Amino acid sequence: MAAPVLSVDGLRVAINGKAVVDDVSLSVDAGKIVSLVGESGCGKSMTAFAVMGLLPPAASVAGGSVLLNGRDLSRLGRGALMGLRGSEMSMIFQEPVASLNPLMPVGRQIAESLLVHRRLGRKQAWHQAIAMLEDVGIPEPAMRARQYPFELSGGMCQRVMIAMALITRPRLLIADEPTTALDVTIQAQILELMKRLRSETGTAILLITHDMGVVADIADRVAVMYGGRIVEDGGVEAIFQEQKHPYTRLLLSTIPRLDGSDVGQLLPTIRGMVPDAGSWPPGCRFSTRCPLADEDCRQVPLLEAAGQDRSAACWHQDRIGRLA
Ligand SMILES: Nc1ncnc2c1ncn2[C@@H]1O[C@H](COP(=O)(O)OP(=O)(O)OP(=O)(O)O)[C@@H](O)[C@H]1O
Ligand SMILES: [Mg+2]
Repeated sequence: MAAPVLSVDGLRVAINGKAVVDDVSLSVDAGKIVSLVGESGCGKSMTAFAVMGLLPPAASVAGGSVLLNGRDLSRLGRGALMGLRGSEMSMIFQEPVASLNPLMPVGRQIAESLLVHRRLGRKQAWHQAIAMLEDVGIPEPAMRARQYPFELSGGMCQRVMIAMALITRPRLLIADEPTTALDVTIQAQILELMKRLRSETGTAILLITHDMGVVADIADRVAVMYGGRIVEDGGVEAIFQEQKHPYTRLLLSTIPRLDGSDVGQLLPTIRGMVPDAGSWPPGCRFSTRCPLADEDCRQVPLLEAAGQDRSAACWHQDRIGRLA
């Protein structure tokens, strides 16, 4: 079997001495979509930034390794890493507008990646940029390409950024909540585009999302994060069918049923709040919110095999079926 495109092993990210990402391991194969899910603040974006080498100044990698096509990114100099970004690996950011250049027409910003990384001529790059704008659902792309970010709506800026990330057909795409700001029609179009990129180009996609409907629609695997750690990991069908961690179970019970049988009912929520990074309880970090917690949970549960091709970090895997 071919080596994964992305392989993260034992990654730690610290902010002010606190591990906001703690011993995270995951991999994404070529042509696959792995979804990283979990409540706000669990460390999804920090994991993504660490992979891209784009952590904010307060944060730093405190351990572990990140391999892109077998190459250890921590051993690359800044120049080499910059060369890979936008070419071999791209990221769609959670906050798009801040990552566009306000002083450059959007079409040029998209074409720029091709000029830098793919050595195309200006004219060819410009035509490809316009075609890409059309692909992400921007009407009148040739006219829009000449406009500046301030002339476009937030949703359009989001699509411009998606176009920038996809234009070089990277080997790895990290998409951090790529479609939350978009209306459902455009969202469906962007998801289709990602599916196409995966199958036609073999791009490996790490998709960060809150939306379990999106996960069910396009992911091949799911990694569930809580408190900076992966608590469950497995194939999407297996995880939707049977959860091996109470957190995953509760996370899935908070989404509306596809058949609409719960319309008009209050959806359950997970009791309690996510503690601040660094204020985790000892042992299992989910224990303060978990209905199954007992004295066993004072020990840290390791991420262990929980059936074929899946793993979970819970002392009470056998009791999860009892949860409502
Ligand atoms: N610049 C920063 N300075 C200090 N702490 C930060 C900073 N950015 C994030 N954090 C902390 O790091 C932890 C992980 O944050 P991260 O942004 O990775 O969460 P997330 O899972 O992406 O959440 P969301 O779903 O809201 O995007 C959080 O506890 C957050 O408070
Ligand atoms: Mg985030």
